Amino acid sequence: MQPPRCCCLLLLLLYLFLLSGTWATLEGTVTLRLLHTSTFQNTSFVETEGLGLLEDIELGSLDKHTWSIHLYHPWVRQALPRMDWDTIENMLKIYLQQFSHLINEGAMQRDVPYPFVVQCMAGCELYPNRTSRAFVYVAYNGQDFLSFDSDNNTWTLSQDTDLSRYVLALLKNYTALSELVEVIFNESCVNDMERLLSSGRAALERQELPVVTVFARTPSPQQLLLVCHVTAFYPRPISVAWLRDGQEVPPGPQLSTGPVLPNADLTYQLRSVLAVAPQDGHSYACRVRHRSLGTRSLLVPWGNSQLLLITALLAGLLGAAAVAALLLLAVWRRRKHQRVEESESRNSTLSKEA
Ligand SMILES: *[C@@H]1O[C@H](CO)[C@@H](O)[C@H](O)[C@H]1NC(C)=O
Ligand SMILES: *[C@@H]1O[C@H](CO)[C@@H](O)[C@H](O)[C@H]1NC(C)=O
Ligand SMILES: *[C@@H]1O[C@H](CO)[C@@H](O)[C@H](O)[C@H]1NC(C)=O
Ligand SMILES: *[C@@H]1O[C@H](CO)[C@@H](O)[C@H](O)[C@H]1NC(C)=O
Ligand SMILES: *[C@@H]1O[C@H](CO)[C@@H](O)[C@H](O)[C@H]1NC(C)=O
Repeated sequence: MQPPRCCCLLLLLLYLFLLSGTWATLEGTVTLRLLHTSTFQNTSFVETEGLGLLEDIELGSLDKHTWSIHLYHPWVRQALPRMDWDTIENMLKIYLQQFSHLINEGAMQRDVPYPFVVQCMAGCELYPNRTSRAFVYVAYNGQDFLSFDSDNNTWTLSQDTDLSRYVLALLKNYTALSELVEVIFNESCVNDMERLLSSGRAALERQELPVVTVFARTPSPQQLLLVCHVTAFYPRPISVAWLRDGQEVPPGPQLSTGPVLPNADLTYQLRSVLAVAPQDGHSYACRVRHRSLGTRSLLVPWGNSQLLLITALLAGLLGAAAVAALLLLAVWRRRKHQRVEESESRNSTLSKEA
């Protein structure tokens, strides 16, 4: 093998290694959120439902009648001392009571017809740089209504209506509610989230391998739809691509990838469909990358399932070869003068395997 080609191979392997390396160390923003929906049947009857989520994991819910908290996992209760849970429950009750009172007052003053629904999403985000942001979004009958900005601790209108302006004016007088929101979502939220993150590490770091199936549909004799169905994976982020003769098929009208959908067991599924002409002479494969696969990719070719194992193995080998190549590169540079021949012969063995 000629030295220039050998360097190209090394660069290629280095490139693959870097690609898979960045994938494996992805760490994002973590969000703790409380969702509550209040259905105002009439001035004296409000139905309230509440749910707490850490990322996509349900932590617990509110009892509709007593507004007490039901936690879903032992690690959630263990994250905080009992007294803290009592405090949170009491603060949530006061917040919900004041919230309902305020909205009812606004609705009565402004002759808003009953029934109507108010939804609220509140919580905090913790960024990788360890800073955080609190948020409260309120919606009226499914439309954005008001939001709370934690940078300046003020409420802003999301829609300009008689009711929204009135509620905003009430809020400005009702500093107690704003202070409560600040305490719950701007102070306690991040502290509690950090404790939940360490207590729930196992649940948050849970990884489930994707199960990939590739099959074809023929809606008409001129068209073949190749379907790549990926399911049972966790966490949610995933990359699914179609390869034509080993090259990634770029986005276009022939390629349609659906949304990531939830399964009942807190895993996800997704399908990607590629429209091709029957017997066009190309080879097709579905490539899946996911945190549970580490630096490997899963390659599932269409029409030749025996290749599956080989390609999965190959993907693993490429990763290993990349590491080996990096080491070799270092050694090769250091001992350029002494061992040029040996290094080259080992590289050519690697390229045959890959
Ligand atoms: C309010 O709604 C509830 C439930 O629909 C009903 O039982 C109650 O009688 C209503 N109250 C008034 C004052 O209309
Ligand atoms: C931290 O990250 C967030 C989100 O990426 C960004 O908005 C914020 O400005 C960053 N803060 C600092 C101090 O770097
Ligand atoms: C608070 O910040 C938001 C967005 O950062 C801005 O739209 C709003 O005008 C600010 N409110 C005040 C009173 O400064
Ligand atoms: C807010 O308080 C001021 C002064 O007490 C009062 O004049 C105003 O009517 C109040 N606004 C609302 C919407 O209650
Ligand atoms: C709460 O909000 C203020 C802005 O008024 C901000 O300076 C402070 O850092 C926030 N606290 C937390 C814990 O986010």
